[in-house]
Amino acid sequence: NTCCVRENAEQHAFGNIGALKKLKEKKPSLIIAVGGCMTQQEGKSDVFKKSYPFVDIIFGTHNLESFGSLLDKKIESGKKVYEIEDDPPACFYVTPPLRKSFPNAWVNIMQGCNNFCSYCIVPYVRGRERSRSEEDVFSEVRSAVENGYKEITLLGQNVNSYGKDLKTGENFASLIKKLSEIEGEYRLRFMSNHPKDLTKDVVEAVVENPHCAHLIHLPVQSGSDRILKLMNRRYTAKDYLEKVEMIKSIIPDCAISTDIMIGFPTETEEDFLDTLDLVDKVKFSYSFTFVYSRRKGTVADKMDGHIDEAVKKDRIMRLVEKQNALTKAGSERCVGKILTVLAEDKDEKRGGYMGRDEYGKMAYFPCARNCIGEFLKVKITKAEGISLIGEIVG
Ligand code: 5AD
Ligand code: SF4
Repeated sequence: NTCCVRENAEQHAFGNIGALKKLKEKKPSLIIAVGGCMTQQEGKSDVFKKSYPFVDIIFGTHNLESFGSLLDKKIESGKKVYEIEDDPPACFYVTPPLRKSFPNAWVNIMQGCNNFCSYCIVPYVRGRERSRSEEDVFSEVRSAVENGYKEITLLGQNVNSYGKDLKTGENFASLIKKLSEIEGEYRLRFMSNHPKDLTKDVVEAVVENPHCAHLIHLPVQSGSDRILKLMNRRYTAKDYLEKVEMIKSIIPDCAISTDIMIGFPTETEEDFLDTLDLVDKVKFSYSFTFVYSRRKGTVADKMDGHIDEAVKKDRIMRLVEKQNALTKAGSERCVGKILTVLAEDKDEKRGGYMGRDEYGKMAYFPCARNCIGEFLKVKITKAEGISLIGEIVG
């Protein structure tokens, strides 16, 4: 499976596919199939055909549901199968999901994106927004909860425009309301939100649904109005701060996390300082930070004023440093407190377990039994950098 949102994701995919060559030599009956967003890019599947002739099947994001028949075709004919569809299908799934990430279940509620942020390749490789029916999402979430999953994350490029294409009156707020009918002990999360589309209705639906975590992922990208405009994000830093205020007025304890990108074409030191300033103002619980990566076919790629690698490196380091300081201060405030943590995985380094509270805070703690999938009361005894160390008290 491949991703092409940034160049390093592509390099990663090329490396992984290259590494399969040896395996194929050892075991010629092995079938190698490459799919995902990379193959959906114009001309990219030719690169795969030429450079990786040992790949048996190349398919795209739009014919994912036909993978079974592509595999049959390969087995029956013995020939290579290269099939990429240009037109995206409606958003529905025939194949039940194979989950390997207990206690976390991710549920797609829509595909595609209509926003065309100028740096982003997603709308080109995923097509326009298509939503799954509320009924379909409801039954997948219910089945995950019935099967013991404790953290359900609804996924879409812009979940706030969920349902618009269905023209049935269903929207993201109504979906969250509907999902509150599903009983059980579980947490509900969703991502990503778009600051221009996140409405009061959605935040009210979140506060009314007792399963919803009080953490909203609201990608800001930049704190400079000039850059936001060039990015085609369609909000200003002030609009963003007002959205944060709106969230906090409805859910006072709501944590906010974000995505931030540095090094967009023409970004000046002043623009970058505006981003640092916004980070200071919002005090994000955590940020996913990215260095702008040129993507062929996007509007930003054709802009003048691409930023020097050394400048980008300097800015990303300063941004990460600022966020780490904020996260660390937040962690230190947790010492002595008892958090409700969902144990999610083993902590190989310390030999215990790790999990997150509803605000996304990660805690590490010892436990004599396998506690993965349990909600535990963990008393935080110390903060190690951005990590929290604690012990189970209930
Ligand atoms: N370069 C760097 N980061 C990108 N993102 C999307 N496209 C690019 C790009 N070309 C980031 C955005 C988005 C996150 C999922 O990936 O911050 O919110
Ligand atoms: Fe890309 Fe997200 Fe913008 Fe859509 S909203 S174009 S997925 S960054």
